[in-house]
Amino acid sequence: MPPEPANPGIRLTGVTVTREGTDVLRDVDLTLDEHRIAVIGLNGSGKSTLVRLLNALVLPTRGTVRVGELTTAQDAKRIRRQVGFVFQNPENQIVMPLVAEDIAFGVKNLGLRGTELTDRVDAVLDRLGITHLRDRESYTLSGGEKQMVALASVLVMEPSTVVFDEPTTMLDRRNRRRLQRTIDHLDQRAIVVTHDLEMISAYERTLVVHEGRIAFDGEPAAALDFYCRISDS
Ligand SMILES: Nc1ncnc2c1ncn2[C@@H]1O[C@H](COP(=O)(O)OP(=O)(O)OP(=O)(O)O)[C@@H](O)[C@H]1O
Ligand SMILES: [Mg+2]
Repeated sequence: MPPEPANPGIRLTGVTVTREGTDVLRDVDLTLDEHRIAVIGLNGSGKSTLVRLLNALVLPTRGTVRVGELTTAQDAKRIRRQVGFVFQNPENQIVMPLVAEDIAFGVKNLGLRGTELTDRVDAVLDRLGITHLRDRESYTLSGGEKQMVALASVLVMEPSTVVFDEPTTMLDRRNRRRLQRTIDHLDQRAIVVTHDLEMISAYERTLVVHEGRIAFDGEPAAALDFYCRISDS
């Protein structure tokens, strides 16, 4: 099998997602290859549907989503190794009783064992500054701690892109800023759905989703103006 390119772009071509007879996302053509991309828009506009397409959590009704040479319809498993997904609610993501086991879970499935496995888990705990949570029982963690563990479980897989769907909504101001800094320092491409407009001011690109379409695609400041106009209309 040829090696995957280091950080392949994600390309959506003619993508429509239909649910119960309605197009919740329509005719989307996008190439996502910037380092920091924000997705904003009103409730129900289609943001989660859009980002869930990127790692095959949602498949297009029409059109194609490609990550490098792979397509989500055919290569979901390989794509999920490249595109990690952090949910709004970390409860949906934490599956094992102990923090270290939870973070090890995915890499174990890749066949890593012994010190190779523990070293990789410890490295990600260290990187996120949560080594003290290593041997805790997952259910005893606070919401903010769970969010960091959920992120660790994604990063340990060493994806080239990390998608966040409203990662800060459950967090207090301090943890929100902490997660924001963590995202800012990620080597990976980050694609972030958020209502936290402060967070995205330095992002390279912002998409505004409106009524199932990409209604604006450009600089954050202009995107925010556009978003304010549609919010007030
Ligand atoms: N499986 C489904 N069945 C029916 N409708 C769906 C389904 N999935 C999504 N929708 C509808 O598609 C629209 C877009 O949903 P989506 O979750 O993408 O919105 P969103 O922009 O993420 O909203 P929010 O800001 O509230 O999270 C909504 O009207 C939603 O009810
Ligand atoms: Mg959503």
